[in-house]
Amino acid sequence: MTVEEAITGRRSIRKFKTDKVPREVIEHILDAAQWSPSWGNTQPWELYVLTGEPLEEFRKANHMKIINGEDYKTDIPIPEIWPDHLKKRYGEIGKTLLSALGIPREDKESRNKFYEEMAQLFGAPCMIIACIPRASAVEYALLDVGLVVQTICLLAHDRGLGTCIMAAAVGYPELLRSIASIPDELLIVVGIALGYPDGAAPINAFKRVRADTSEVVTWID
Ligand SMILES: Cc1cc2nc3c(=O)[nH]c(=O)nc-3n(C[C@H](O)[C@H](O)[C@H](O)COP(=O)(O)O)c2cc1C
Repeated sequence: MTVEEAITGRRSIRKFKTDKVPREVIEHILDAAQWSPSWGNTQPWELYVLTGEPLEEFRKANHMKIINGEDYKTDIPIPEIWPDHLKKRYGEIGKTLLSALGIPREDKESRNKFYEEMAQLFGAPCMIIACIPRASAVEYALLDVGLVVQTICLLAHDRGLGTCIMAAAVGYPELLRSIASIPDELLIVVGIALGYPDGAAPINAFKRVRADTSEVVTWID
C-alpha cells in the first residue's frame, strides 16, 4: 500500500468484528507511530491501550452514562460555535451516518441506539487513549497528538485494521482515569477505537465526501 493509498483509503470504522488484535501488532504500530513529528521533538503524547476486562468495564460504564443522559465533561472543551461552512459539513456527516444506517431523522429511538453503539466503541476490541501533559503548552501539544493519532490510524489501516478517532470515548475523563489509572497531570484528548472492520456493514461503506481543494487552498503566485 502506498502512503497515498493509505491516506485516501483510511476511513472511520463504526462496526468492528469481535476478533482480538494481537498485542504484537499493536506494539508494532505504536513503535512506528513514535516517528511522528512534534514541536521540538517533545513527543508530548502519552498513550494508554485498553483491551480485555478493563475495556469491557469501560464500555459498560460509558454506555450507562449515555443512557442516563449524563453531560460530557471532556478535558478538552467541546466546540459549541462553528463558522457556517464548518457547521454545514458537520451537519452533513451526521445526516450521512443516519442514512447509511437507514434511520430517518425523526426516529429518535434509533438515533439514540446509534449513540449507545458509539458509547460502546462500536464493538471495538481495543481502545487507545491519547493524552498530553496538563502542564505543557496545550495548543501545540494538541497539534502533536493529532499527528500521532493520524499516524496510528494509517499504520492500522495498512495492516488491515480499522479505527475510529472518538471524542465520544473521552466524554467522562474521570471514568477513564479510574479504569486506566491515568494521572490527573494528564489531559485526556481523544480515544481511538481499534479492531478488524466488519466489511459488510453499510456504516463502514457509505460514500464519503471532502471539500474541493479550491475551497481550502489559496495559491499566491
Ligand atoms: C477529534 C475527532 C473526534 C472524533 N469523534 C468522533 C466520535 O466521537 N464519533 C464518531 O463516530 N466519529 C468521530 N470522529 C470521526 C469523524 O467523524 C471522521 O473522521 C470524519 O467524519 C471524516 O470521516 P473519515 O474518518 O471516514 O474520513 C472524530 C474525528 C476526530 C478527528
